[in-house]
Parts: sequence; C-alpha cells; structure tokens
Amino acid sequence: MCGIVGILGKEAVATQVVEALRRLEYRGYDSAGVATLEAGQLTRRRAEGKLKNLEIRLSTEPLEGLIGIGHTRWATHGKPNETNAHPHATGKLAVVHNGIIENFRELRAELQADGYVFDTETDTEIVAHLVTRELDRGKTPVEAVGLSLPRLHGAFALAFLFQGQEDLLIGARKGSPLAVGVGDGEMYLGSDALALAPFTNLIAYLEEGDWVVLNRKGATFYDKTNAQVERHAQRVAAGAFLVEKGNHRHFMAKEIYEQPEVVGHTLTQYLDMAAGKVRLPFGDKIDWKGLSRLTIGACGTSYYAGLIAKYWFEKLARLPVEIDVASEFRYREAPLPEQGLALFVSQSGETADTLAGLRYARQNGQAILSVVNVPTSTIARESHAVAQTLAGPEIGVASTKAFVCQLAVFASLALAAARARGTLSAEDEAGHVQNLISLPGLMARALELEPQIEQLSHKLSRAKDVLYLGRGTSFPLALEGALKLKEISYIHAEGYPAGELKHGPIALIDEDMPVIVVAPHDALFEKTASNMQEVAARGGRIILVTDAKGAAECGIEPEATIVMPDMDPTFAPIVYALPIQMIAYQTAVFMGKDVDQPRNLAKSVTVE
Ligand code: AGP
Repeated sequence: MCGIVGILGKEAVATQVVEALRRLEYRGYDSAGVATLEAGQLTRRRAEGKLKNLEIRLSTEPLEGLIGIGHTRWATHGKPNETNAHPHATGKLAVVHNGIIENFRELRAELQADGYVFDTETDTEIVAHLVTRELDRGKTPVEAVGLSLPRLHGAFALAFLFQGQEDLLIGARKGSPLAVGVGDGEMYLGSDALALAPFTNLIAYLEEGDWVVLNRKGATFYDKTNAQVERHAQRVAAGAFLVEKGNHRHFMAKEIYEQPEVVGHTLTQYLDMAAGKVRLPFGDKIDWKGLSRLTIGACGTSYYAGLIAKYWFEKLARLPVEIDVASEFRYREAPLPEQGLALFVSQSGETADTLAGLRYARQNGQAILSVVNVPTSTIARESHAVAQTLAGPEIGVASTKAFVCQLAVFASLALAAARARGTLSAEDEAGHVQNLISLPGLMARALELEPQIEQLSHKLSRAKDVLYLGRGTSFPLALEGALKLKEISYIHAEGYPAGELKHGPIALIDEDMPVIVVAPHDALFEKTASNMQEVAARGGRIILVTDAKGAAECGIEPEATIVMPDMDPTFAPIVYALPIQMIAYQTAVFMGKDVDQPRNLAKSVTVE
C-alpha cells in the first residue's frame, strides 16, 4: 500500500513530511517524494528506493515551504523509478495517490484529446491533469476537485497541493483510508493515524466517499454528493497507533472496510495493470503446463478460499484439482502424482494441520507453493515458492480481508496457469485482468449496503438455525457465510450446495429457518431460483444476495434482498464475500458478542 502525508505547517515542513513517511514504511514501497510551495511555487524532490535516497536528495537540494505533501509509492502502474514516483504535478498542482484508478485508460485518452501531455505510465497522473483541466476552465481548486472526483472509478485516497495556495490542502477517500490530524494552528493529512502521531493524536477519519478541504484554521468535510458534513475529531489513545481500530468498533469491522484497499494492493503484485497481463511475483518458477494435477490443503476459511480456487483452476486452466481439509489430508496417505504441485493456504502460516499436510506432500516429492499473509511464517519458510497476500495484520479472529486477498491471489494464479497451459488467449486474459482491476471499486460499493444488512441482522439474531445455499463458486461462499455466522454469533448455521436441498436439508425448512441464498445472476441462477421456490413453497424465509437482474428474476418474494452491483460473475466471490461477512458481523454485534475474540477460538490454531 502506498503512504500519504500532508502538512499545513507553521515552519518548514519537508523534514517533517519525510519523518511522517518513515512511520508508513511498514506499508512497503519502492520510491518516495515530497512537494512543497516555496514562495508560492510548487517544488518537488523525488527518489527511487528507500527514504534515505530522498533524504540525500533533500540534503543537497533542500526544500523550503510551510506546506507540503509526501508519498511512499508501491508501484502499481509503471516501473518503480523516479519518473513514476509521486507527487505527480502539473504547472498548477501536485497530487499523491494510494489505490487504483480503474478507468485510467479512458480518462487518459480523453485528456490527451484535450491536449494534455503525459510524462509517466501512472494512473495518478490522470488525476493531476483531470483537476488541472478544471482549473484551466476557470474553476477554483475546491470546485475543480469537487467536479473531478466523481469521474474517478476505483478505490483510492488522494492529497492535493495547489500552486500559489499557501493555506490549502485537499484530501479525498474512496476505498482507501485517509485521516485528518488537528494541530495547534497546523493541520495534517495521513494514510493512518500512525503517520501523524508525532504531530497530534486528535484525529478525524474521512468516511467512504468523503473529501476534505484543509486550512490552518480547520477542516471542511464533504460527502460523495459534495454536501458539507461533520466528521468529529477524536483522541487516538496513546499506543493504539500501531494497530488501531480507526473509527471502527472492532478490528473485524476495520478489516472488513480495509478490503478494497488491501485487495487492490495485493493485485498490484500479481498484475501488470497497464499491460493487462498477469505477472506473478515469483516469475515462472512453476511449470503449470507440465502439471497433471494440483493438490490443495488448508483449514477453515482458508479451505473455503481453496475450494473457490478449485473452480477457477479447473474452469480457466483445465487443471484438475484435488482439495482436502488439512486435518484429513495429513493422515489419509493420499497418493500424489510424480512431480506434482501441492498448494497450502494459510493466513497465519502457522496452522498445525496445514503445516503437517505440507510436510506430507513435500516428503512425497511435491513442489510446494503456499499462499500466506505472513511471509516469515513456518509454512512460507518450508515452501519452494510463496504467493503472499498483502492484507496487512489481521487481528480479528474471524478471517475477512485475508480471505478476499487469498481469492485475489488465486484468481491471478489461475489466470497465469491458464496462459501457460494455452487455455486462455491474451485478449481474454486482458479482459479478466480488467475485471480484477474493477474489484476494489465494486467492493467499496458493496460496503455501502451495510445499513440494510444491519437492519436484517436484527431479525436474523433471533434464529436458532440458519441455512446458507449457493451453486458453483457461490457454494464455498455459502460454507464461509455459515462459518462466519456461527463462529462470532454462536448461531448454528450450515452451508450447502443449493442442488443438495432436495437430498435432505429441505426437511429442515419451516417459517423459523432463515435461508441465505448467495446467487449472482450467472449461468446457474435459474437452477438456484428453482431451489428458492422449493423453500418458499414450504414457508421458508429467504434472504437473497444477488444483483439487480437476479432480484428481478428470482420468481419469489424474499424476506430481504441484498442487491449487489453488477459485475462479471467469474471473480464475483471476491465481492460477494463482503455482504456475507457483514451479515455475520452485524448479527453478532446486535447480540452483544465478543466479535474480535469469540469464545473457544484462537487466531492461529498451532496445535492439532
Ligand atoms: C476463519 O474465520 C477462522 N478463524 C478459521 O477457520 C481460520 O480460517 C483457520 O483456522 C485457518 O487459519 P489460517 O488461515 O491461519 O491457516
């Protein structure tokens, strides 16, 4: 993830900006830069590599100025070099950006047609020219930003500095967090409170879709409709900076809301977004073409991620997959193919059963690939190749952001395997990559469904048993939804393939049994609609998670319908996981449960 800092100061800010960026180094980066106003003139210093290179640059070419913005860049579009380093600038403004502008191609073409010349490969430069064009049309900086933000699709955070404007910073948040720090005659912007800790602990967070105008007297907040709104500053408790909940009640809520950002961040390590290709961080270490079969092992939520991956590997790459829960796999002495590949998925990288399964596979001649969130973990260290999820520390015991990042990695691996095995054209690869690039923006939109989900969770909290149904890649989501609900609300829940209903579970259906159906309008929707009619005919209570077309064509009157944004169904589980998580979270919160540390559970099961 990139890091953003802005300071409206009373003294020279360049050194303070670099110090604040240093507190964001944990996010990972490959270049950095600062821009200030020196006597009203925009001036930049940027450097490839670590902050020390930027400091060397600043020592030989110091920056004056009492107002500035800074950035640590994790390359998404364009190589990690000085040219592509932020801040990006035109003659009228400088901007820093965290996240992905998914419609950057069309905006770039539109701006080039208007005569704007681009110097870099980055999506960020689009933003600089888009706002500059409004300034060129005579708008004020505040008007120019207000008009430009709605044109940007994706998940991002931004900070702007304007030529000649010594008392103005503007920040924006859509899918990637941004905090405002309140100082004594100074104001600050930062990707999180940690960056601002040296200056203040009085922090206000932008809500989804907000933007903010800062001067040294304070901050004016606007929501996504450009209406002025209140966002109250709060004291962030000392010591909470390292892993803080932000303005969320629980770590689980914070981690649910981080998902657009961390999925975007993870995808930047697996996709060449500008070229529309998959680009695995471990190159072609794996001979996908030579594989006769892929073996997958994992536990719990990670196992459900592997189940979804099975559909993708088999459908896209025609690669047979055998998957098992690790606690069974480690003992059933499964015969494994010569020169086979075994893949183990684990957020913690320390799960005992998964590690044991890995060791069994390795002892039986398999190449080992692991998908982990902790690169220094035991499972990572005992693997031949590691595909890292970049979810950041996951504190809530119920896994959320790690799960969707696992799916993002699996989507990329399946596409890479398909290209290597000749089952995917370059054109179709580009189409799938564009669909993946659109996911953070779709996830940010899914999060806006939380108020409706909160309402339905109140009724759900009175249930004794809940059934989750899904087909295709929605079936593992049904399993995951049931696990999420039972592990944090303690309500008994089961996930089933919708097609299995008639083979037994339909005996459970009555007016007390909520049935949550996960069904985007894909090729299997009609079949699932029939299952819903079977449930409705027996007085069952249906909560349908679908899209607009599914809502219109389901043929029944659900008790509640959660209408998701339209999207390509291939990787829809990455977005449909969010309402599933929010249903469990809101139900457990309404029931007063300990959401972050549910009874009897541990974050990492390091024993059998
Ligand atoms: C997920 O919500 C659970 N807390 C649990 O099932 C977890 O996914 C499982 O224990 C595997 O953990 P790992 O991903 O760290 O291996």
